[in-house]
Amino acid sequence: MNVDAPTLFKLFEAAISADYTTVRRIGGQLARKLAEEKDPEAAKALQALLRKRGVPLQASGYVEALPRDAGSRLPLVEEEQWPTTPLFLNEESSHTIEQFLEDAANISMLSEEGVSSRLGVLLYGAPGTGKSLLAGHIAAKLARPFYVARLDSVISSRLGETSKNIRSMFDFIPTKEAVLFLDEMDAIAKLRDDRHELGELKRVVNTVLQGLDSLTDDVIVIGATNHPHLLDPAIWRRFPYKVELRAPDEDVRAAMWLHFLYQDRDAEASHARLLARLSAAMSGAEIEGLSLAARRRSIINKQPPNLPHILLAIDAASDGVPRLPAGHELSPEERKRLARMLVDKGDLPQTEIAQMLGVSRQMVHRYLREEKDGE
Ligand SMILES: Nc1ncnc2c1ncn2[C@@H]1O[C@H](COP(=O)(O)OP(=O)(O)OP(=O)(O)O)[C@@H](O)[C@H]1O
Ligand SMILES: [Mg+2]
Repeated sequence: MNVDAPTLFKLFEAAISADYTTVRRIGGQLARKLAEEKDPEAAKALQALLRKRGVPLQASGYVEALPRDAGSRLPLVEEEQWPTTPLFLNEESSHTIEQFLEDAANISMLSEEGVSSRLGVLLYGAPGTGKSLLAGHIAAKLARPFYVARLDSVISSRLGETSKNIRSMFDFIPTKEAVLFLDEMDAIAKLRDDRHELGELKRVVNTVLQGLDSLTDDVIVIGATNHPHLLDPAIWRRFPYKVELRAPDEDVRAAMWLHFLYQDRDAEASHARLLARLSAAMSGAEIEGLSLAARRRSIINKQPPNLPHILLAIDAASDGVPRLPAGHELSPEERKRLARMLVDKGDLPQTEIAQMLGVSRQMVHRYLREEKDGE
């Protein structure tokens, strides 16, 4: 039996969104097709499968009730698991977050004294700095269910549908003592393009404001955006706490390398420090990505992570995505580049550089001299 790609995609989408009605409908069509193609056994087996009751994704069965976009049938809000990976923050950001968590934990006491404020925090910063991860950590710390609404998926191509989506998203939340995470908030501002009717942006912004104001005090709202300057000032004001997530500083980078690359083995602390000194421009997501790539290599080759290769990838990362060089011996060119990098930014004595590159100290000396002459 041939199944065309669009049907397959529809089937997968329905399966992943636990949309059993669509799964059954497509399954029924396929069973009929099997019968027509003179395969009654297979048709019967498929029909038997389709009669089974679908298992709800969560025992509570809430999945069925998630508000969805009328056109795409995608859920507007989803409950996500608390993250299991650790979060590394610069001191300044973690200080603000600590304060926010303390307020959140003592909200009833604060409101009795009349000094509570809305529990809203806006996270802003470049991609891959840990905004989404931090939102999950806040939910975990407060032991609250974590509801994620990605504003870009709430925006519908159908006129008028976006505001309706936003309303049903907010209507869904007040029933739970939850953390509501509004991710990718700048998607709203993107409505300012010419595809949309002029009044739509205004309407959508208003609906978001009404939604935020309608939430009871026990709902914690976290917003995230890469472009805070695109955010409507009235939305900006609804979040009493604002935390900028910056690129990780050197101490945080060292902790990240130690964790993601060396799985917190203390013996590797000096390597992690060296990597931190040399990876000034990298985000948390990039450090994690490169670390995992290097660990995959090291497992396959049954060798410890190849530090020179990682350093070369960091060096190349300044003009794009960090990529490990293919598993080969270092070329003289690469050794030279590394020697220069380690002397200039790594602050490493030449004997250690020689050891790392597997050459003599004299050789390192020569590399550095040749580099200079070549300039
Ligand atoms: N500060 C950090 N501490 C630990 N891990 C981090 C950190 N920043 C990024 N990561 C890693 O990178 C991944 C991606 O980060 P995350 O999705 O939280 O970034 P983001 O700021 O939300 O990015 P975007 O703006 O693209 O949505 C995380 O799941 C985590 O594994
Ligand atoms: Mg994110």
